[in-house]
Amino acid sequence: MTFSLADLALPIVQAPMAGGPSTVELAAAVCEAGGLGMVAGAGLSAQRLGEEIVLLRAATTAPFGVNLFSAPSPAVAPEVVEHYAASLAGEEGPLGEPRHDDDELHEKLALMVELRPPVVSFTFGCPHEPTVDRLRASGCAVWVTVTTPREAVYAAGVGADALIVQGVEAGGHRGSFDDVEPGDIGLLALLQLVAARTDLPLIAAGGIVTGRAIAGVLAAGASAAQLGTALMRTPEAGTPAEHRELMAEGMRPTGLTRAYSGRTARGIVNRFQQSHADAPSAYPQVNHLTAPLRAAARAAGDAEAFNLWAGQAYPLASDRPAGELVTELANEARERLSEVAKMVEKPR
Ligand SMILES: Cc1cc2nc3c(=O)[nH]c(=O)nc-3n(C[C@H](O)[C@H](O)[C@H](O)COP(=O)(O)O)c2cc1C
Repeated sequence: MTFSLADLALPIVQAPMAGGPSTVELAAAVCEAGGLGMVAGAGLSAQRLGEEIVLLRAATTAPFGVNLFSAPSPAVAPEVVEHYAASLAGEEGPLGEPRHDDDELHEKLALMVELRPPVVSFTFGCPHEPTVDRLRASGCAVWVTVTTPREAVYAAGVGADALIVQGVEAGGHRGSFDDVEPGDIGLLALLQLVAARTDLPLIAAGGIVTGRAIAGVLAAGASAAQLGTALMRTPEAGTPAEHRELMAEGMRPTGLTRAYSGRTARGIVNRFQQSHADAPSAYPQVNHLTAPLRAAARAAGDAEAFNLWAGQAYPLASDRPAGELVTELANEARERLSEVAKMVEKPR
């Protein structure tokens, strides 16, 4: 039987967070608390992804998901990336090889067919119908991230089982099919617009950090809430210490940038993000180009020079253990929904 959101004890999905914050421990803690843990498959080799799935299965018998990045857009002209590389000359550390690759997508899809995780989710684009059919025939539910009603209609058309509706408040990369004009609609508006176009179950993502916000998106028609930033300060997450500190201070704004990866993403504004506001849309070349710079800045603890992905509500993220946090958020959502039900009771 293909996984259904109704199988979850709690309508809470952990957002996959590639690049460090996602760990097997985080996914296991969310699964054990009754939510859906996710393995972030991007940036890992297919072999390492397989190992993480095996480790997660050893840590929990609960259902879980695996997230993959769809195939990238065709490579931009090399001069575009060369021009950006020249503008990074003043940064500390070496530049990487700006290659255009698909992050071992074909190997990872074959792995999904072999290991059959209950859910396979996609971002950065929609898989083609034969891929969706192949995954579904293997017993995987296929979820697609959408940022506009148009993307939602397309994903429904290829046979997706559910849609992750990502509002512009979200931390990390916009899941838009195309980075040239990434979707910029707020979550509440987008949920309503997408629900008007499809009957598929919707998983709401973007800026959800409290039980009240979970109640809000469920009331607005979502079947579950997906939380990323809310879990980044938990002890199970792999978030760097300096990133956690800036989140705890909660004083800086977030902003959208292509400076680190060549794809639009939301992070806490820092020096690098401000200095390279003119970065081109050239993913994954720019991602590979800046990888050694980011690694050097992380190793040196220089939070002004590596990506500080975070959603707009990041100052409210808690440092409690993930399982406790998920349980508490679900309780808060339940209480809020019963208060709200009383608010709209018919006047006598
Ligand atoms: C650090 C970080 C890394 C992320 N990496 C991924 C990823 O690998 N795949 C993906 O589909 N979404 C990724 N996202 C986006 C999340 O899936 C989700 O849309 C977002 O976290 C929701 O907004 P919130 O952070 O305000 O909760 C990432 C988000 C963050 C904060």
